[in-house]
Amino acid sequence: MAFKHEIFEKNSILLTIGILVVVSIGGLVEIAPLFYLSNTIEKVDGMRPYTPLELTGRDIYVREGCYLCHSQMIRPLRDEAERYGHYSLAAESMYDHPFQWGSKRTGPDLARVGGKYSDAWHVSHLNHPQSAVPESVMPPYRFLNDNILDGRTIEASLKANKTVGVPYTEAQISAAKADLATQVDEFADGYDDFMARYPGAIVRDFDGDPAHLTEMDALVAYLQMLGTLVDFSTYEADAIENQR
Ligand code: HEC
Repeated sequence: MAFKHEIFEKNSILLTIGILVVVSIGGLVEIAPLFYLSNTIEKVDGMRPYTPLELTGRDIYVREGCYLCHSQMIRPLRDEAERYGHYSLAAESMYDHPFQWGSKRTGPDLARVGGKYSDAWHVSHLNHPQSAVPESVMPPYRFLNDNILDGRTIEASLKANKTVGVPYTEAQISAAKADLATQVDEFADGYDDFMARYPGAIVRDFDGDPAHLTEMDALVAYLQMLGTLVDFSTYEADAIENQR
């Protein structure tokens, strides 16, 4: 046996090929079964695709590189769950393309920041983070107040998400531009239809400037819904029932 091993040790090409063969077997064993499972993400009540405004906010989050300082994945460890809430479920990022788990926490995890602060707090924090936390290293994003959303690309954006598997309906796609404005105005004509398309969505003026639909509206709308879709009191009950 020791003698046969010598063949590999003295021949680097053979050793490389040997390593490749062994690693590929390991990889196949882990990856291949995933292709035969109908669903690798468990279904969880409450998950719905992002509204056009939330989706726009998410795009701004990605564009501004918020993920470079903030994670969106609460790990199943006691200290994390006590600080941030229930650990993240795979289903909670099922409509994220690309997901925003992140790998760096210069700032806190944001997976469940929705509802933690008021809209006004978010706006003032994004305008000037040091007004909330004097020693914060987070940069200001004041310009978001001045960037008006005209909804030029929102329909295409929903379509692109649909292409990669988000179940947007034709009605949601064709109403996307109108829905963008409806979400900041609870008295809009389309309110009832909007709520039927996106059950449980938060409708209000997010940036404190009802006269304009801005990128600030979109980003705050996105932050305020993060981690709020799944009702964990029912999730726990389901999990116990499934085990029986
Ligand atoms: C350079 C790193 C950095 C970047 C980039 C950054 N942040 Fe932060 N963020 C922080 C730090 C540090 C804190 C904690 C201190 C504070 O509240 O300002 C924080 C706090 C926050 C909080 C409060 C979280 C809580 O639970 O108290 C929110 C919300 C937030 N950031 C959102 C954002 C958004 C949205 C973006 C992108 C537009 C962003 N951050 C970009 C570093 C960053």
